[in-house]
Amino acid sequence: MSRSFAAGSPHQHRPRAFALFHPRLGDSLNITSSDASGITHCLTREASFMSSDPLDFHGIDYVEFYVSNARQAAHYYRTALGLVPVAYSGLETGVRDRASWLLSRGQVHFLLTSPLGPESAPEISRHIAIHGDGVRDIALRVSDARAAYEEALRRGAKSAQQPQEFEDGSGRFVRASIATYGDTVHSFIQRQNFRGIFPGFKEIQNPPPAPDTGVAAIDHIVGNVELGQMNHWVAFYRDVLGFSQLTHFSDKDISTDYSALMSKVMQNGSGRIKFPINEPAEGKRRSQIEEYLIHYGGPGVQHIALATKDIIATVDALRAAGVDFLRVPETYYEELPSRIGEIEEDYRELGRRGILVDRDDEGYLLQIFSQPVQDRPTVFYEVIRRHGSKGFGAGNFKALFEALEREQAKRGNL
Ligand SMILES: [Fe+2]
Repeated sequence: MSRSFAAGSPHQHRPRAFALFHPRLGDSLNITSSDASGITHCLTREASFMSSDPLDFHGIDYVEFYVSNARQAAHYYRTALGLVPVAYSGLETGVRDRASWLLSRGQVHFLLTSPLGPESAPEISRHIAIHGDGVRDIALRVSDARAAYEEALRRGAKSAQQPQEFEDGSGRFVRASIATYGDTVHSFIQRQNFRGIFPGFKEIQNPPPAPDTGVAAIDHIVGNVELGQMNHWVAFYRDVLGFSQLTHFSDKDISTDYSALMSKVMQNGSGRIKFPINEPAEGKRRSQIEEYLIHYGGPGVQHIALATKDIIATVDALRAAGVDFLRVPETYYEELPSRIGEIEEDYRELGRRGILVDRDDEGYLLQIFSQPVQDRPTVFYEVIRRHGSKGFGAGNFKALFEALEREQAKRGNL
């Protein structure tokens, strides 16, 4: 097959030494068929019939960010999002070109990586120079990384990293990567009785305290791509990774007077991995997707949605830790009870915190969006609690975008 879905340039990970770790921590990265948190990405009956999972994805293994100062970013993710530092690699562990911090809570595993010198890891330095701090890798757990990689290439993917194998005496760790939108990649991760967390990492003993924010799992990860490119990437996830399309929002559903976008949601066969893909649509003014593309220097991850079992407690903990959320106009709550109907939560409690609600045939969901977490208006977070709904809050798009546009206007970018 000659068609290539490549974008961005391949990067080279230097082979790193491996180290032994406590099995408990290795286990914390196991993603099983039912989340330990009890928050499951429900299997949709239609999806299970309509799509297979040719690359045999188990779930999102971790998300790696390239950042200019991983040590300080780790401080933010610990003290603000409540992720616990569990492992580190760098000069002290025999890795010369980069430092990485792994932070985890529940099934959320973030890897923060910085270069250790101007020439030591040019692909990381280049990524940071163009994009600022941002997501480099959405790593997916598979049974057989080499087979998944080869099948993806056969289906038209472009390689970002050939398979690398590490052994720790009791098991194997295999990683291979393919390119997706922009400079983003998907690594395929195989952990076969591997006792460590990652090759070259050492466990962090007695980590400093982190607030219990209750974030438990990654619900979905959204990518922004250029105008006219959404269907290209929808085809990539369908044809290369075997995903199926869950939902489609047209610009009519999710546009305001000034900003518009189109979005399609792709998911794997089990429904555990969900990747909405946005592109800007014509509006009267610059859309928030265009703003992202300008400041990120191209396509990339726009937001990561973190699932919680108690959104009120999570939002309170995050806000107390200094996380800023988008302001929602009070008028949003006036019509809400009649639009949504009865819910478990108290509408006044939701309104006080700016938590949004949406309903579909299968139930409802609660969601809230953070401000961007770096100076560039790029990556931000969503906190989501599902009560049956498998949607993404389409009914909130207008309300959200109106709020976003008020923020955009303040930055002089509308
Ligand atoms: Fe979302």
